[in-house]
This record gives sequence, structure tokens and C-alpha cells, in this order.
Amino acid sequence: MRKKIIAANWKMNMTQAESARFVESFLRDLGEITDVEVVIVPPFTAIAKVIEALGRAQNIKVGAQNMYWEKSGAFTGEISAALLRDLFVHYVVLGHSERRTLFGETDEIVNPKVHAAHEATLHPIVCIGETLEQRDKGNVEKILSIQLRGSLAGLKPKELQETVIAYEPVWAIGTGRNATPEQAQEAHAFVRKTLREMADDATAERVRIQYGGSVKPENARELMSQPDIDGALVGGASLDPRSFVQIVKAARER
Ligand code: 13P
Repeated sequence: MRKKIIAANWKMNMTQAESARFVESFLRDLGEITDVEVVIVPPFTAIAKVIEALGRAQNIKVGAQNMYWEKSGAFTGEISAALLRDLFVHYVVLGHSERRTLFGETDEIVNPKVHAAHEATLHPIVCIGETLEQRDKGNVEKILSIQLRGSLAGLKPKELQETVIAYEPVWAIGTGRNATPEQAQEAHAFVRKTLREMADDATAERVRIQYGGSVKPENARELMSQPDIDGALVGGASLDPRSFVQIVKAARER
């Protein structure tokens, strides 16, 4: 049984004070949660504040939104896996569609980042997903296959098992228009089938595949009741602790 994983991707939002208030509110409602894995992914500037506010609540994990693959050195403006581990970060989101479309990230850039994350025992959350144009042309499976095989190339089965995949159709991100549970399940089943081909059955069964794209309290339960949807990567609705709590609660109900 795969444990559901719900992550709050705050993107370029949340000051330190806002982050601390969010964590305090979340802990009041769901501080003891252990049956669902909860990950908060603040901007770099609020990571330390979130960890401080979490205090002894080590059941809640913290992630970063990006990193560079080199270990250290003259790379102005970049952050390494080791620097994130130094802050007690557990997860790192890699290849988000905003990084791919706005900052030119490709599978060839994402792949060494994924390897560097594993080397530093950081768990990557690797994002994939098609644009509306690609979907309309009937190319969803082709795109997902290329992105999966490219960004995860060379991973050992154990590393694959410790990788989270986030299926985020680009047309559903920040648009209010989520994929239907059937559309999402179809894509997730294809991702798992591809993982089976890339590794083996046992590995593919262990990998958790999150859905992302306009996840809200109103649609979370139905999306996460699909057999291959193992959680959610939440953008906009994760900025409000009350709606994020409702989404986490939806993951508990099977
Ligand atoms: P929204 O939930 O705002 O659509 O964003 C999804 C996303 O990009 C999460 O990484």
C-alpha cells in the first residue's frame, strides 16, 4: 500500500511571518498526522522559518522548489542538494512546468539534478505533463514517456522507488480547470506502465504518483480515490491553511 503524499507548493509566495502563521494553523488542525505524508515546499527564503515553526513535528516534511546539480562552487544564485540537506530539507521539486516553460529547463537539465538529489539523500518530486496543444494532438502518452525516460534516465530501482512523480498537465496549472479523475487516472496508469518498462513490477508499484493542477478541497477526494493517484501537488489552494487541511483530510478517506 502506497502512503499518500500531499505537498504544498507555495511557488514565489509567503513571507517568513506568513509561513510561520500557516504552520501554526496547520499544526493545530493536523499536527499529529502520520497516515498521510505532508510536505511543505516554501520559497528558499522561508525554509528555515518553516522548519523552526514545525519544531518537534517531524512527521511533516519540508521540500525545496529547485536546486542545481553541482555540489558546491562558483554558481552564483544556485543552491545545491548539500545546502538543502544542511537545512534538514527532505524533498526537492524538479522539472516543474514553470521551470520548463519560463526558465528553459529540459529533461537533460532535470536528469542530473535528480541524480544529484539522490546522491545527497534528498527525495526528488519530478514533474511531468503535457500542454493543451499536445493533448489535442493526441500526444499525451508520447510526451509523458519522453519526459519520464529523459528525466529519470540511469536511476537504480531503489532510487526510482524513492522518487515521487507529479503528473501536472500544463493546461490545468493555475487555471481552475483540473483534469477529470478519469483523465488523470488514465495518465497515471500510463506513467506506472512506463515505470514497469523502465524498471520492474515491484518498483513501479512502489512509486508514488501525485496529481497536480487546480487541486482544491472540492475535487481532491474524487481525484485521490483513483487507484493510481497517490496524492497531490497543490499550488494555489495550498496558500490557505484551511483549504490545504481539507485537501490533506481528503487523502485520508479511502
Ligand atoms: P495550482 O494548484 O495553483 O493549479 O498549481 C499546481 C502546481 O503547479 C503545483 O506544483
